[in-house]
Amino acid sequence: EKGGYEHFMLKEINEQPRSIADCMRGRLDAQAGRLIVGGLRDYINKFQNADRIIIIACGTSWHAGLVAEYLFEEFARIPVEVEYASEFRYRNPVINEGDFVIAISQSGETADTLAAIELAKSKGATIFGVCNVVGSSIARATHAGSYTHAGPEIGVASTKAFTAQISVLTMMALMLGYQRGTLAESKYMQLLNELEAIPAKVEKALESNAQIEYIASQYKDARNFLYLGRGYNFPVALEGALKLKEISYIHAEGYPAAEMKHGPIALIDEEMPVVFIATKDSSYEKIVSNIQEVKARKGKIIAVVTEGDTSVKSMADHVIEIPATHEALVPLLSVIPLQLLSYHIAVMRGCNVDQPRNLAKSVTVE
Ligand code: M6R
Repeated sequence: EKGGYEHFMLKEINEQPRSIADCMRGRLDAQAGRLIVGGLRDYINKFQNADRIIIIACGTSWHAGLVAEYLFEEFARIPVEVEYASEFRYRNPVINEGDFVIAISQSGETADTLAAIELAKSKGATIFGVCNVVGSSIARATHAGSYTHAGPEIGVASTKAFTAQISVLTMMALMLGYQRGTLAESKYMQLLNELEAIPAKVEKALESNAQIEYIASQYKDARNFLYLGRGYNFPVALEGALKLKEISYIHAEGYPAAEMKHGPIALIDEEMPVVFIATKDSSYEKIVSNIQEVKARKGKIIAVVTEGDTSVKSMADHVIEIPATHEALVPLLSVIPLQLLSYHIAVMRGCNVDQPRNLAKSVTVE
């Protein structure tokens, strides 16, 4: 059942080229210039004319929501708020009929997300679900939705569900932007092609496994980790840190790299591994200076970079390359080495990777 892998998590990490392709199948045909997220059909007007998009989720699904915030705002120019379901539901939030709410959940059973949906529904908002489990409570409670089609995810640490969620949300953002006229046709076509190329690039990213295993062996006894990224890679930093803490029990924090100087930089010394997600994108120069700041304080630098990078390579203790893609699609690739890093560290520490202590696959209690 683990398909020859030692753990479900590793199997699921390796399934991503296929699960992302499954998620896009029947929806995206770049050659024909066609992109249809079927679940949106009946609510397309509400979506196109939304005053605001509110995304509600927990944990890793919340991180996918943060990536979506960047996508929707960049391509569709609709303001987005990303909310922890648990905070949203208890604070008497302002919800209007013009709000389009997207609930993201792998299991479709998360109690707080479900309760937040009911609350938004009672205020007249339109609720759209992005779930993995077919027929789940959240899938049933929403007005409409799209499944992620990642297949069953058994490991408690979410991996392939995360990349499938981002794939669906990316397709939604591109479709919306194109239809609203905020995303030009030529750029739209280019993005469709880039998106279609993602599964093969994920396959390529997975080839760094042995190198990542070596890096894991060097840092498995660290007491803390810091993960830093900017822009589209900021949510990936949060996700990398969450993956590490939940399965290896090492304390890790994710931060937007520019926030480092507002506090976390005080933590840096020669004992502190810092994982930078420093791909070639619009914030590259900025993150390079953040790397210099860490280096000056003798922090250990592990960097995820774009193939062929030289500047970061000259500064970092370790670099892990991923293929180049459009900046907005980078999370689908940059998260892969972070999943593998946490996996190998957890295995080396003798942790129960698939069923970490104190955690359940779906959190059905509040
Ligand atoms: O099933 P859901 O996507 O609603 O679950 C949300 C979180 O409980 C979940 O993502 C959790 O954070 C994972 N263990 C992260 O790997």
